[in-house]
Order: sequence, then C-alpha cells, then structure tokens
Amino acid sequence: VCIRKATMDDLFAMQACNLFCLPENYQMKYYFYHILSWPQLLHVAEDYGGKIVGYVLAKMEEETTECHGHITSLAVLRTHRKLGLATKLMTASQNAMEQVLYVGLLYIPRCSINILFDRILRFTSIVLYFDYAFWNRVKFSCDYKYTQVFGAEYVSLHVRKSNRAAFHLYTETLGYQIHDIEAKYYADGEDAYDMRKQLKGKN
Ligand code: ACO
Repeated sequence: VCIRKATMDDLFAMQACNLFCLPENYQMKYYFYHILSWPQLLHVAEDYGGKIVGYVLAKMEEETTECHGHITSLAVLRTHRKLGLATKLMTASQNAMEQVLYVGLLYIPRCSINILFDRILRFTSIVLYFDYAFWNRVKFSCDYKYTQVFGAEYVSLHVRKSNRAAFHLYTETLGYQIHDIEAKYYADGEDAYDMRKQLKGKN
C-alpha cells in the first residue's frame, strides 16, 4: 500500500471510502472545494491493485490570526486497518501544512507569499469550480504545479467522544491534546473532542 497525494480522479473513491467508514458524509462539491483550494493537503492510501483504501481530507483556516490546518475527515477501510496507514496519512497532511519556504537564507513569511498566490489561486479556483461539469478542465487545475506554503502553527480536528480507535490514534500515536469539548457537535447529539496538535513552527 502506498501513500500519495490525492488527485481529481481519486475523489469518488475517497467519497466511497468515507461512506463505508463514517456517518459524517459530504457532497462531492465539498471534496472539490478541498482539492481545488488545498491540493497538497489531501492524501490517499492506494493498494497494489490501485484501490483507494484510505484518505485524509484536510484544509487550512487562514482567516483567523493564527494560520492553522484542520483535518476534515480521515478513514481507512476495515480490511486495511491497524497497518499504520492512518498514521502515515495524517503525517503526510500535517507535514504539508507545516511547510515553510526558504530562498537562500531568506525566510519568506507565510502571509506575504500566500497573499500573492492566494489571489491568483482563488481566482483560478473560483473560475474552475463553477465550471466543474467540464471534467477535464477541472482536472487541469490540479495538475499544474505551484508553490503555496502555509507554515501552520497548529492542526485541529473534531472526534466523537466514543471513537476509541481514532482517539487513541490522535493522542497516543500523533500527540494531539484535548483543547475543548463541543457539546452536541454531531447530528445525533454526541459531543466532540476539539483536539489540537502544535506544529514545529511554534515549538
Ligand atoms: N483500538 C484502539 N486503538 C486503535 C485502534 C483500535 N481499534 N485502531 C487504531 N488505534 C490507534 C492505536 O493507538 C494505533 O497505534 P498502535 O498500532 O501502535 O497500537 C494507532 O491508532 C495507529 O493505528 P493506524 O494503523 O495508523 O490506524 P488505522 O489505519 O487502523 O486507522 C482509523 C485508524 C482511521 C481511526 C480507522 O480505525 C478508521 O477508519 N475508523 C473509522 C473512521 C474514523 O473513525 N475516522 C476518524 C474520525 S475523526 C475525523 O475524521 C477527524
């Protein structure tokens, strides 16, 4: 099984995996929104037959003062659990959030570079987003390479209080801590742990 960046072609398989594994499901446009906005944060686990067996869907929250990443959804098919795949998916996404850009000895702060790229990218994304029925044109938008870095201070996520497996993964393996408890966060009334992990930028 390999871990790699997700492409447009993976989105339906990611959605299928989500439907198998979790009660929190999303419309296809939400997957498009993620991959068009933050293509470097989405990763998949692909088995040797080319089947998608796990994914991580993540985004950046850039409006607040502290730039931080957020894990929207993570899942691994039952048949492929306890192999370390979720750990690898999460690590890949966190690394992409944390990345900063150095040109020679000059450290380029996240904000200045992001503002510039953001303007260009948002425009491109918006144009292509509304055009997404034209599959190939959308595909093109994610194929081109660009340098967008985030230098995220921390990464956050929500997890059900009763989700022992995921809670263990986050606390024991990945070093997340409970930041808050959000009462009745889920549609069925269950509370969520609002969890955070500080990224290297701040340590
Ligand atoms: N019971 C207890 N701890 C577990 C379990 C389990 N069944 N499964 C994984 N863990 C913990 C352990 O600490 C494990 O470390 P260890 O192997 O050293 O004991 C650690 O997680 C790492 O395990 P991985 O193999 O990397 O995790 P896996 O690939 O099995 O995926 C996941 C874990 C994603 C929680 C999987 O069980 C799953 O898809 N569950 C259903 C969907 C889900 O709950 N997703 C998370 C929702 S929260 C969100 O999306 C932000």
